[in-house]
Amino acid sequence: MKRLLWMILAVLCLPVCGFGGHLEPFKEVPIPKANPQTPAKIELGRKLFFDRRLSGDGTTNCGTCHDPQQGYSDGLEISLNYPTTRNWRNSPTLINVAFQKFLFHDGRAASLEDQALFPLMSAFEMNQNLDYMEEEIRAVPEYVTEFTKVFGDADITRDRVAMAIAAFERTIVSGDAPLDRYLKGDRNALSPEAVKGYGLFTGKGKCTECHFGVNLADDRFHALNVPENPEHLTDPRIAATRRFVAKVYHFKEFRTLAEDPGRFLITGERKDWKAFRTPTLREIAGTAPYMHNGISATLDEAIEFFNAGGGKGNTVLTPLQLTAEEKRQLKVFLEEGLTGAPMAFTYPKIP
Ligand code: HEC
Ligand code: HEC
Repeated sequence: MKRLLWMILAVLCLPVCGFGGHLEPFKEVPIPKANPQTPAKIELGRKLFFDRRLSGDGTTNCGTCHDPQQGYSDGLEISLNYPTTRNWRNSPTLINVAFQKFLFHDGRAASLEDQALFPLMSAFEMNQNLDYMEEEIRAVPEYVTEFTKVFGDADITRDRVAMAIAAFERTIVSGDAPLDRYLKGDRNALSPEAVKGYGLFTGKGKCTECHFGVNLADDRFHALNVPENPEHLTDPRIAATRRFVAKVYHFKEFRTLAEDPGRFLITGERKDWKAFRTPTLREIAGTAPYMHNGISATLDEAIEFFNAGGGKGNTVLTPLQLTAEEKRQLKVFLEEGLTGAPMAFTYPKIP
């Protein structure tokens, strides 16, 4: 009787307690009511995304660190930076970013509109003064015309800049991967090796405990104890950036902080110490290196991390005991199953 009760409880709990979920085929990205997509707004956002005027010294644009030719990342362990500074985290891909409920590795922004102003103001990214940026854009006649067309008047504000950029970001999508066709019933969409990898991903590998849904991400944070990137210990500029961010988030011992506290910085809750958001795995073959600090150079290394049961002392993962063949099949699934058709892209002409 007691056992039956437990079983009923477990089944009821499954969808809410987070024991994982199912993979789902691609569906359209959600568009917020407050910022409807229009072709003119998307075009304006595309221009702003690639306009170097948006950085303080005119050397970088959003595409510098989220480069379409590098899977909308920059291919580096630790992302690029504003001159003389250094970044402290890996640049995440922007592919399918519209599905993310929390933005940044620690989830500190909740919408693309909010997020866009962070890198603009960040001392170690674009280091721009937003009042100045508004005047700079206002001084370009083409932009005045375009803002008027998109927003109804010529008022060029930081919020409208963010809205246009967000509209463009919502067009950076990868759907129609072999996995999507497979999930819709096309049994030949995946090669036999990839099908075995799919079985491991959803079975023995337990990956769907966290990587599920349309975007293969659970919108949650997990302390997997990913090892520190050694550069964090040796590069004083990274230390400066880490302490600066920690100070902004009222971390008391920011001066002696020697590692990335992850989600803890935002919530101050013990359970979030070194917890990071589950990233999407779509287009994963093209977005190396991996993890919030780029510590896994290849997919093999990332798979080995999970196979070993995660980082030292974590209480989330357990060793998987995958054979060499199973690890290979898992990789074939990630590379083949999650890569969609090549994403068309044309650079805009900056006014
Ligand atoms: C100098 C490099 C750099 C530049 C320039 C830059 N970013 Fe980023 N971007 C990053 C890094 C690094 C992160 C992760 C930071 C973190 O998690 O703390 C990030 C995170 C993001 C995210 C969150 C993605 C996710 O999956 O959570 C979005 C969206 C984004 N950037 C958009 C932009 C936009 C829009 C611009 C231009 C206004 C921009 N970025 C400019 C490096 C950069
Ligand atoms: C308990 C939740 C959880 C499970 C189970 C899990 N992952 Fe993850 N995965 C994460 C989190 C969280 C990250 C980000 C860690 C970080 O950035 O430090 C991640 C990162 C990754 C990355 C790097 C993605 C990137 O863009 O940097 C890959 C690849 C990956 N996981 C594959 C897998 C595979 C394959 C499995 C199954 C063998 C698996 N994961 C199981 C939560 C999980």
